[in-house]
Amino acid sequence: MPVSPRIDMLLPLSVRRLACVLGLAAIAGALPCVASAAAATPAGTTLSAPAVEAAQLARGRTLAQSCAACHGSDGNASGPQFPKLAGQGASYLERELERFRAPRPGAPAPRPSPIMTPIAQNLSAQDRRDLAVYFASRSVKPALSPSAAELPLGAQIWRGGIADRRVPACAACHGADGHGIPPLYPSLAGQWPQYLMAQLHAFRDGTRDDHGPMHDIASRMTDAQIRDVADFAAGLH
Ligand code: HEC
Ligand code: HEC
Repeated sequence: MPVSPRIDMLLPLSVRRLACVLGLAAIAGALPCVASAAAATPAGTTLSAPAVEAAQLARGRTLAQSCAACHGSDGNASGPQFPKLAGQGASYLERELERFRAPRPGAPAPRPSPIMTPIAQNLSAQDRRDLAVYFASRSVKPALSPSAAELPLGAQIWRGGIADRRVPACAACHGADGHGIPPLYPSLAGQWPQYLMAQLHAFRDGTRDDHGPMHDIASRMTDAQIRDVADFAAGLH
């Protein structure tokens, strides 16, 4: 299901501004990028869009030092217990950082994590945006994973879904090459297979509130199907 071309009309200004900064004209839509870039700067100063982007990247890079122990300084996490952030869509990263946070004091986070919830709780909206822009700008180093030929079931689910279980093709939303379709659909290519598998289990058992179709999709899959498609997606690049 490709993103509708008119999705830009539904996006909040912050996302369109981010799209402008990233040069994603299709998402930024008719919104003049010069005006939105100016709106993002402190009163009295007007920066060009490239200058705003450079400032966000520089600030994001500095903030990212506090994430490096787990996610790597360039977003390529050193081990499978930590997801890679490199090459992920900026709007997805920003949204997940939001979702780790409790919406109000005492309320559960939509995506609770004993590690990420306290970290995300301490980030301002500007921090979340700058970190997202920085990690999105890095290149993902592919996980070592078996090829499509070795994982025929995984490849089949990725490309064609599972008809008798009404599971749609993953490629429809995450892209044939697994790089996702910004701003809604995250990239899975090159991610750790263990992390992808853990998230599919979390969607299935409801511990990760999906904000989309993933609970329904994962609930219709067996453990073996989840394992094979996670291995296949991780090998995409
Ligand atoms: C102590 C280790 C640790 C540190 C430090 C850390 N993270 Fe995480 N992060 C994790 C773990 C573990 C997860 C997976 C959580 C889950 O299972 O939902 C995660 C998940 C994420 C995700 C979701 C990725 C996805 O694909 O959905 C984002 C975004 C993220 N972290 C951003 C950050 C940022 C930005 C920082 C620094 C400000 C940071 N993290 C610091 C351990 C860490
Ligand atoms: C109709 C669109 C759609 C289809 C089809 C789809 N996904 Fe997703 N997927 C999403 C969306 C939207 C998200 C983000 C969910 C969120 O943020 O809560 C997501 C998130 C994920 C994540 C979490 C990524 C991360 O970094 O934490 C995994 C893993 C995943 N999907 C795997 C799959 C697999 C495997 C299939 C095929 C069996 C599939 N998806 C089919 C829309 C889709």
